[in-house]
Amino acid sequence: MKFFVDTADIVEIRDLAATGLLDGVTTNPSLVAKTGRRFVDLVAEICAVVPGPVSAEVAATDHATMLAEGRRLASIAGNVAVKVPLTPDGLKTCRALSDAGTMVNVTLCFSAVQALMAAKAGATFISPFVGRLDDIGHDGMQLIGDILEIYANYPALQTEVLVASIRHPCHVHAAAKLGAHVGTMPPAVIRQLFKHPLTDKGLDAFLADWAKSGQTILEDQPELRSA
Ligand code: G3P
Repeated sequence: MKFFVDTADIVEIRDLAATGLLDGVTTNPSLVAKTGRRFVDLVAEICAVVPGPVSAEVAATDHATMLAEGRRLASIAGNVAVKVPLTPDGLKTCRALSDAGTMVNVTLCFSAVQALMAAKAGATFISPFVGRLDDIGHDGMQLIGDILEIYANYPALQTEVLVASIRHPCHVHAAAKLGAHVGTMPPAVIRQLFKHPLTDKGLDAFLADWAKSGQTILEDQPELRSA
């Protein structure tokens, strides 16, 4: 499963990109607004840090303006994936951008038939929001399973399922078991994925025993030791 980070915070993006585990970035108008940055400059900076797909969302709701905005965003860098909402105008825009060779991420998906429509419109990614479904008492992960099952019935559909609105590592675990192509996560969730209390406890014990041995692996190259 590919890991995307769901943020517009360039400091966080740089930090996570340095792990070598980041396959892409998703932003949305709410996340961009929080930064106070000029949108096109921010997208250009993110695209230079992360070579994978960087989702940048249009703000218009009518097809003509969405298409113009989408083309402007796509002109920023070759790895921009234009994000459009799952509306009739959004899917019309998706088809036009996709036919022109631009990656498109169709967002705000809450049903499997919506996901089928997006795939038929040539979406590169479909973004079902699992956390927001859970919030209203629905089963977000059931939707992921349903979309994957439907897409598997039609091998000609190339759309990747990008699990969005992920809130915790259990969502990542469940999405990976189902075979989702991508998960986009807030930075805090990506950091949580590294953690397990037994890892910390085990490492403490190993280090304590090693200290008792009095040895250092870099004894011949002390200048390479960081601490
Ligand atoms: O960027 C789309 C999605 O991941 C938003 O998540 O937490 O606002 O529901 P959230």
